Amino acid sequence: MNAHPSQIRPAPEGPRPVLARITPPAQPLGPWRLFRTIVRNPLEAWPEAIYHEPLYVSDFLGNTSLFVMAPNLIRRVMVDEADAFEKSEVLRRALSPALGDAILTADGARWRWQRRAAAPIFRAERIRSFVPAMIAAAERTRDALAAEPGAEVDIAQTMMRTTFEIIVETMLSGHGAIDAARVERGITDYLESTSWIFALTLLRAPAWMPYPGKSKAERAKMYLRDALFRLAAEGRRAGTEGRNDLMSLLLAARDPETGQAMDDRDVADNLLTFVTAGHETTALALTWAFYLLAHHPESEALVAAEVEAVTGGGPLTADHVDALPYTRQVILEAMRLYPPVPVVVRAALRDVDLDGTPVKAGTPITIPIYAVHRHAALWDEPDRFDPARFAPEAAKARDRYAYLPFAAGPRICIGMGFALSEAVAILAVLVRAFRFSLRPGTVPVLKQRITLRPADGMPMRVSVR
Ligand code: HEM
Repeated sequence: MNAHPSQIRPAPEGPRPVLARITPPAQPLGPWRLFRTIVRNPLEAWPEAIYHEPLYVSDFLGNTSLFVMAPNLIRRVMVDEADAFEKSEVLRRALSPALGDAILTADGARWRWQRRAAAPIFRAERIRSFVPAMIAAAERTRDALAAEPGAEVDIAQTMMRTTFEIIVETMLSGHGAIDAARVERGITDYLESTSWIFALTLLRAPAWMPYPGKSKAERAKMYLRDALFRLAAEGRRAGTEGRNDLMSLLLAARDPETGQAMDDRDVADNLLTFVTAGHETTALALTWAFYLLAHHPESEALVAAEVEAVTGGGPLTADHVDALPYTRQVILEAMRLYPPVPVVVRAALRDVDLDGTPVKAGTPITIPIYAVHRHAALWDEPDRFDPARFAPEAAKARDRYAYLPFAAGPRICIGMGFALSEAVAILAVLVRAFRFSLRPGTVPVLKQRITLRPADGMPMRVSVR
């Protein structure tokens, strides 16, 4: 019997490709270089030790913070003692001006009822009902790419557009005139300034402090907040009758303690959170997957073969999406090497002890997902692309908290199932149709702006398979 593609470990061919990665500084950086590096790319400021130590205490001008890499400690922070930790000040300073106090940025009771309000749309049967829209958007992208055979396109941008269409169609039932290009630009301009916020928060600088790009980010924020506020107000005027989407769930939600409904601002903040958190991340997972497949044609061929075998050469349907284990493994491995959210930060609400390290209330705790995913004690040859790591037996043998693209515990990504179906559907539709290649010698530069982006997009040549 032939092995199923999910069990095949392709033989490495020829010399290993040089894949984009962060080169950590061998020694912890001094204050000035640390500041400058954080502004350029916060990930590059992480010390080399976090790629092999279980825990690392960092001190910047007397501000202590803790990096936690050991799976048992990650589990304590994110799951077992999740209520002893809250979202950090730096996250709030970076994101709350745009996203308000909505599901991603809120804590405690306010977070809980917003999470409950949105949960029904992420149940398995609802996600399944969205898969045809995901496939249809992927097919529109396929047709647009097929119209320009052999052209070089920025796959990062193509993926952003595809996932944006999907989020508007599924979460907002396609309602509302959203200018995709302006929203994209707004998100990029806003996120661009966040590394300054990281650096200035470390210096304990006040929030009003000016920095380069601040006014551009302010304008972007105003645009995004106004656009979504208008959409929320229109949604309320139109009423929820006959509507069964995220907007109608938010409009109908009541705070269990006060009985209060969300006002238009709360609805708008949540919609903006879902539109941004719900498309850029998945687009990046796909962008990095195409990048990796371009370097690993043997894996690309396995994806194409799996899709052909499962569909029998016919169109991809929602049922097929759950039956593509190797394609899914490629997505999971892409998110290991390039986690779209490369870091989450929490702050201790009370004094805690982490394996003998005392942590004072208020101390920021960084879970450096990117480094955990390449940690020497957790992964064999961590820099090597190998989708077989996610074959069922191999995944079962590993600590659950060694792999955290969607985080874990009560704050785990609410859109995880949605994102995985979407990513598999898009990869399947496009890889069976095209081969994607990079200009020889291209090594994209990784840049963290909350999410992990290729600094200059991902130009790739698309040729018909
Ligand atoms: C590959 C794609 C995605 C990745 C890698 C990802 C990753 C994450 C991570 C790591 C968190 C936790 C952040 C933290 O605790 O600080 C998170 C939270 C969240 N994600 Fe995702 N996400 C993805 C797709 C989506 C999608 C498709 C949606 C919605 C349609 C979504 C909506 C959210 C929301 C609302 C939260 C906040 C949840 C809460 O705090 O209760 N994400 N995501």
